[in-house]
Amino acid sequence: MCGIVGYTGPQSAFTPIVEGLRRLEYRGYDSAGIALGTSNSLFVEKRAGKLANLEAALPANLPTVHSGIGHTRWATHGGPTDRNAHPHLDNEGKLAVIHNGIIENYAELKAVLQKRGHTFTSETDTESVAHLLSDLRKEHQGDLSAAMRAAVAQLRGSFTLLAIHADNPSTIVGVRRNSPLVAGIGKGENFLASDVAAFIEYTKRAVELGQDEVITITPETIEITDVHGAKVPVREYEITWDKEAAQKGGFAHFMLKEIFDQPKAIADTLIGRLSDNNQIQLDELHMTDAEIKRIKRISVIACGTAYHAGMVAKYAIEKWAKIPVDVEIASEYRYRDPIVDQDSLVVAISQSGETMDLLMAVRHAKAAGARVLAVCNTNSSTIPRESDAVLYTHAGPEIAVASTKAFVTQIVAVYLIGLKLAQVRGELSDAEVKNLYHEALKLPGQVEQILETVEPLRALTRTFKSNNTVLFLGRGIQYPIALEGALKLKELAYIHAEGFAGGELKHGPIALIEEGTAVIAILPPHDEHALDEKMLSNIQEVKARGARVIVIAAEGVEVIGAEHVIRIPIAAPLFQPVLATVPLQVFAYEIAVARGTDVDQPRNLAKSVTVE
Ligand code: M6R
Repeated sequence: MCGIVGYTGPQSAFTPIVEGLRRLEYRGYDSAGIALGTSNSLFVEKRAGKLANLEAALPANLPTVHSGIGHTRWATHGGPTDRNAHPHLDNEGKLAVIHNGIIENYAELKAVLQKRGHTFTSETDTESVAHLLSDLRKEHQGDLSAAMRAAVAQLRGSFTLLAIHADNPSTIVGVRRNSPLVAGIGKGENFLASDVAAFIEYTKRAVELGQDEVITITPETIEITDVHGAKVPVREYEITWDKEAAQKGGFAHFMLKEIFDQPKAIADTLIGRLSDNNQIQLDELHMTDAEIKRIKRISVIACGTAYHAGMVAKYAIEKWAKIPVDVEIASEYRYRDPIVDQDSLVVAISQSGETMDLLMAVRHAKAAGARVLAVCNTNSSTIPRESDAVLYTHAGPEIAVASTKAFVTQIVAVYLIGLKLAQVRGELSDAEVKNLYHEALKLPGQVEQILETVEPLRALTRTFKSNNTVLFLGRGIQYPIALEGALKLKELAYIHAEGFAGGELKHGPIALIEEGTAVIAILPPHDEHALDEKMLSNIQEVKARGARVIVIAAEGVEVIGAEHVIRIPIAAPLFQPVLATVPLQVFAYEIAVARGTDVDQPRNLAKSVTVE
């Protein structure tokens, strides 16, 4: 949940570190700090609050040094104060450590280290690592990499750690366990970071790191070793997007830019997936036709917004491929006895590929013998690496904490999986698959069309800015979209918002309706007449009790009783959720702007949730 950057090279280290932190601030933003390696000492500054607070606290005559580490924090142990901000130091103030994750045995370590004379100044779990490393470095004759390997053997939990020592400041040592860390190879300079976005401006050459591997960088070298000290080959890959993709590009917020990125993102996820003989091309599944035919059940596991994409997957896969699908919140999955075996396909959906709840669920499913397919947006992240196969969405970097373009591409990716399974199992003919694929190819243009006509919705939305409650209603495949609309509004505008299946309203939630309550109702796909009528009745029920009703409906569908109707183009029925999502994103964005909340970095949240 924290952002981590390390730099060593000819530049003044302050610039790549602070610029890197700015790009990683989405990961956590309740405090920030740096440690720069001057000769024989460290320059350390850290401040509660956003990166801007740290920058304001820095002296004008900051020393020009060529290596250092920096951190933005999402607090776990100890509140977001100056003292608890990273880096944390050893007793001599010569060794600095930054950390993402949780050290589960920190209290035991702290007790032992205190007995040995170490003085602790924060409430964090991280500080124990600084003191531990300090002792271990002395035991290993000043070798920080050896000390890190020895430390890892004593640590429980999940972590990315970076350390620097004043005696050898051009060397930075890092390690990861269940938490992201990548290296960047520059010309005469090297980088370490939680995410390639931190150094994309300087290099597109990245290096991935395995579990418990220790990496040591100097300006000219990168060395990776396993916990026993044996050298591990450097696994290099190229970053396929450029720095513009991680910039706002003239939009007021990353979220707005990412909403407008969606047509391209959907097109990129869909492109080239139908062969000349009308077969869905998903070689990434790494499954033979015989294996696909053997699948008896599918479990989709995910968190937050990705879970809503999983709910859409259930409708699509069951409808097309006729395979039973259950969808489960990843954090619940391994704490019951899920029915999962060699005939199960587990689909793990994640934008970041680092969500700890999901990673643990993936491991549980694999241990039970299931084949795990990741649907992920972040190359070489942990969940794809630990899965049997990965289908990447091609949304590009998503910086805003609230997920938008990643969500719609996750839905598109699960459509492709559904079509592939249905085709191989003979549930859809080649002609039907071709027709559906061509319908899907219309989605980018249809999203574009919605975005071009969004102005009246933006103006209307502002009239709801003082509402304390907003309810979202959906039925059938639009039910997950009602949940997603509510989640977006909660995250961004801090308004109490709930999504309901329209039919459930009368079983309790209708008690929430009072004069002026906002209700956003998403009509089922245009050809679901039976459901449509039911939904129109639900609208009348809330309207009769004083609700202000906005309806999202396909063009041409008759709507009675709404204060405002937002029209979306007609798409194939199962594709309608992608289109209905867009106005809900705009709605949440616009209310957040009107209420003056922090759109890209909402309070208490982090983009990548690497703790359980
Ligand atoms: O990176 P992931 O897709 O695994 O993240 C899952 C959720 O944490 C994420 O979707 C979260 O709900 C977003 N903030 C939603 O906007």
